[in-house]
Order: sequence, then structure tokens, then C-alpha cells
Amino acid sequence: MKGIVLAGGSGTRLHPITLAVSKQLLPVGDKPMIYYPLSVLMLAGVRDILVISTPTDLPQFQRLLGDGSHLGLRLGYREQPEPNGIPEAFLIGASHIGEEPVALVLGDNIFHGPAFYSVLADSRAALDGCVLFGHRVSDPRPYAVAEVDGDGALLSLEEKPARPRSNHAVTGLYLYDNTVVDIAKNLRPSARGELEITDVNRVYMSRGSARLVHLGRGFAWLDAGTPESLLQAGHYVCTLQERQGVRIACLEEIALRMGFITADACHRLGSRIAHSAYGRYVMTIAEEIAA
Ligand code: TTP
Repeated sequence: MKGIVLAGGSGTRLHPITLAVSKQLLPVGDKPMIYYPLSVLMLAGVRDILVISTPTDLPQFQRLLGDGSHLGLRLGYREQPEPNGIPEAFLIGASHIGEEPVALVLGDNIFHGPAFYSVLADSRAALDGCVLFGHRVSDPRPYAVAEVDGDGALLSLEEKPARPRSNHAVTGLYLYDNTVVDIAKNLRPSARGELEITDVNRVYMSRGSARLVHLGRGFAWLDAGTPESLLQAGHYVCTLQERQGVRIACLEEIALRMGFITADACHRLGSRIAHSAYGRYVMTIAEEIAA
């Protein structure tokens, strides 16, 4: 399975913060926002990942993450000149995807919850069409809202409904079989002039091959697209990390635990940034696992 992190967009709700800096490079707690969605793909065991962003911002992501080899990953980079919609990721990324299934994650989505690794492994193993992930929110109106049957098969999908049929919002993590590329090629822009991911998901729903995995109440799903939610996400991360002494979305730790890199390599990564608590944490984890 290939991976894509979509980290473009214009971040208008965060202006003026995002006039000169990509939203997905802003700090959430102690790390750049893109670490969170990238960690999700890594937890899903996906190692060949394309980062898509604007022509202006893409070099910064490259500077941050390089070719990914230090994390046991293969990272590639492609530009999205204009924010023409989420499914454009499958057109821009068609050659990266090749003949494989693909996991797409939005660059401003933060997931945290129990046994996420197993949820992702099970979802990947059961992929036959598409798997979406739903989460309860108090106000689902800004999101796509899903209804499912008892087995998780998708029954209805509404984009930003005025009167939502449920509180189950569709999150920014999507697993697709390889037909997603052809589906994306045949999409037409919506009234707002964008290609819509909900239209992709509706094609799978009409085929009877769209499933939604509900991430239960033990999960946190945060998007960090407004000043308030950005701050809340940072507080959430800092509060849990300080209380528990473990870090959320520490890429080096995940790479080590997933077997992508050795404890020695992990330790070296930490030692390069040992002036920060993050760096020292990476070294400690490497020492613990090596012992
Ligand atoms: P949005 O939050 O819908 O858009 P945005 O990031 O441009 O922010 P705003 O609404 O404040 O203007 O996008 C969700 C995620 O998807 C975000 O990480 C940006 C990314 N995205 C792209 O990279 N390209 C696109 O064409 C779109 C629509 C979104």
C-alpha cells in the first residue's frame, strides 16, 4: 500500500498566520503538524509516501523530512499548484500509486487513540473498495456525515449537511483500492469549483464497497485548521505527553517500534537534536528498547 499526505491548501481560516507559513508546518505541541498525519501512515505500516503541497511550501517539507530514509521511509514530493480539491491527490500521485492500494491522510488531521495500530492493520487487511473512519463530533455540520448499517457498510453520505442525520463525521483518513485513480480521473468539479472526496466515496458506496470504521469515544480526532482548534490540539498533546511521559506522533519512536530502523539509528537521530526534550526522549526510547 502506498501513502499520500495532502498538505497543501490555503489555510485561509488561519490567516494571517498562514500568509507566509504552511499550516501543516505550524507547531502542534512540540512538533510540526505534519508529524501527526505522517505517524498515522507509519502506524499503518505504509513506508512509501508522497507529500503533496503548494509549490511555495513544498521545499520546506523537503527540508524537514528529506528522503525519509532516516526513518526507514521513502518520501517523495509533488506540487499541487492550486487547491483544486482533495481527490486531486490521486491524479497528482497516480504514478506514485501505480497498481497498489493507497492510504490518504490530510495534513491537518490529528488522530490519537488506543490500539490505533491494530485498528489500522485490521482495516488494511479488510480493504475491499474503500475504508473511511468516522468519529463523533458535537457539531457535524462542517463535515461529511455518514450513516452505516450494523456491519459498517456505508448507507448514506452527506457533505456539510444543514440537518445532519448523525453525529458521525468522516475524518481525513481514507484507504482505497487502486480503482480510486480512475474514479478521480472521471470526477467533475462541484458547484464550489473543487473535486470532492465525498463524490469519490459515493462511487464506492454505490458499488456497495464502502465501509466506515467508527473510532470510538476513547479516540481523539482533532483538526487544527482554526486558531482555536490549533491551540486546543497543542494543549491536548502537551497535557497527555506531560502526564504520561510518552510522546504522541514521535516519528523516530514509531519507526523504531515498527521495525523500520534500529535502536542505534534511532539514538543517533535523537542525539542530533539533543538540546530539545523531544530529542532526549528519542534517545531514551532507543536506550530502553536496546536494553
Ligand atoms: P481544508 O481545511 O478544507 O482547507 P485549507 O487547509 O486550505 O484551509 P482553509 O479552509 O482554512 O482555507 O483542507 C483540509 C486539508 O487538505 C488541509 O491539510 C489542506 C489539504 N488540502 C490540499 O492540500 N489541497 C486541496 O486542494 C484541498 C481542498 C485541501
